[in-house]
Amino acid sequence: MTSFPKPTATVPDTTIYERMESKVRSYSTSMPRSFDRAKGSWMYDENGGSYLDFLSGCASLNYGHNHPVLKQALLDYIERDGVTHSLDLHTKAKAEFLETLEEVILKPRHLSYRVMFTGPTGTNAVEAALKLARKVTGRETIFSFTNGFHGMTLGALSCTGNAGKRGGAGVPLSHVSHEPFDGYHGSDVDTAEMLEKRLADPSSGLDAPAAILVETVQGEGGLNAASNEWLRSIATIAKRYGALLIVDDIQAGCGRTGRFFSFEEAGVRPDIVTMAKSLSGMGLPFALTMFRPELDQWSPGEHNGTFRGNNHAFVTATAALKHFWSDGAFEEEIQRKGEYLRTRLDRMAEEHGLTTRGRGMMRGIDLQSGEAADRVTSAAFDRGLIIETSGAHDEIVKVLAPLTITDEEFTCGLDILEDCVREALAPQFVAAAE
Ligand SMILES: Cc1ncc(COP(=O)(O)O)c(C=O)c1O
Repeated sequence: MTSFPKPTATVPDTTIYERMESKVRSYSTSMPRSFDRAKGSWMYDENGGSYLDFLSGCASLNYGHNHPVLKQALLDYIERDGVTHSLDLHTKAKAEFLETLEEVILKPRHLSYRVMFTGPTGTNAVEAALKLARKVTGRETIFSFTNGFHGMTLGALSCTGNAGKRGGAGVPLSHVSHEPFDGYHGSDVDTAEMLEKRLADPSSGLDAPAAILVETVQGEGGLNAASNEWLRSIATIAKRYGALLIVDDIQAGCGRTGRFFSFEEAGVRPDIVTMAKSLSGMGLPFALTMFRPELDQWSPGEHNGTFRGNNHAFVTATAALKHFWSDGAFEEEIQRKGEYLRTRLDRMAEEHGLTTRGRGMMRGIDLQSGEAADRVTSAAFDRGLIIETSGAHDEIVKVLAPLTITDEEFTCGLDILEDCVREALAPQFVAAAE
């Protein structure tokens, strides 16, 4: 029997952070504890408090914390003095990763991609994708979408919608056209059709882009899930106008939406795919940009980075692919849990006249205001549930539980969430907001 989380109320001494760490930090402000250990779906603070993790390192820990199979693979590798850092040298660990990716993931999906090891963050994989698309097509503009989030470096930030994040750039963010995402103008308006119309019109002023960059489910932008039809239309438009289709699968990939790649369900075949977050399986930094072999027009070193050879991440990623993706059992498990999550969130939404968002194990509930959503996440944290918000106004409470979470843990966390939503929408709060 899993015990319910028992958090501590003790806020530890934070003077070292106030003295030394930049004010740019954010999660630590809303969750003021000193975490020390983590296992499976749980994080533990220094004072013995336990917290059920519905944030999962923002989808970087799809297989939970310190999964025993991945941890053992890493311990064995370190124990035999396996290479840790290798620039882009050939290593046994890298070869094993590539072979496993090819055999376990790409071949069964009839995908043929060349793999580029970028710097180890998602934003770096996006930068590489943008550069490659511009280089191959000779065009400058990228189409990205309203509410899209693609990272914090200048190229990726240009493709990001959020004004707060864009404001940090300090220079103009250009060469990107932010097109309306699926549903942006309501469910009756087909935004793919609108885009096609403008591209087809020689007087619309819209030049054909180098690439269309899309998230199938917008992780940071509010869990807006594109329909399969819309994604297929976008893929067709890209092809028709000589643009490359880039799917940013950094948050929605690695099983989060039910299949390994989030675009599988729609049956689209992106020209370029970016991956990071849960790719290493253990929270180790690791990112990839994959593309059709014909697009591999890079010159050696044209996009490089010191940390492209994180062999520890290769080892854990290989172990994760073998352990979770060699057959269809894990996919079935995610889809079952995703359905359970959908029914629980629908029930909460129905009780309060709200709506839900998302797909698979990447879903949330729209509290309609950032204040209400903040009341939910704060109350949840006080009860030992780590959960965060997303969306233009931080109004969506987003559930990113580990895909490996047990049914009992999942029920426990969703029970807490249900209570917190009820509390946050209690008459005194609603009256105060009016
Ligand atoms: C879809 C998407 N792309 C890119 C990024 C950037 O990844 P990173 O924070 O590792 O740079 C994120 C991060 O949340 C993301 O969700």
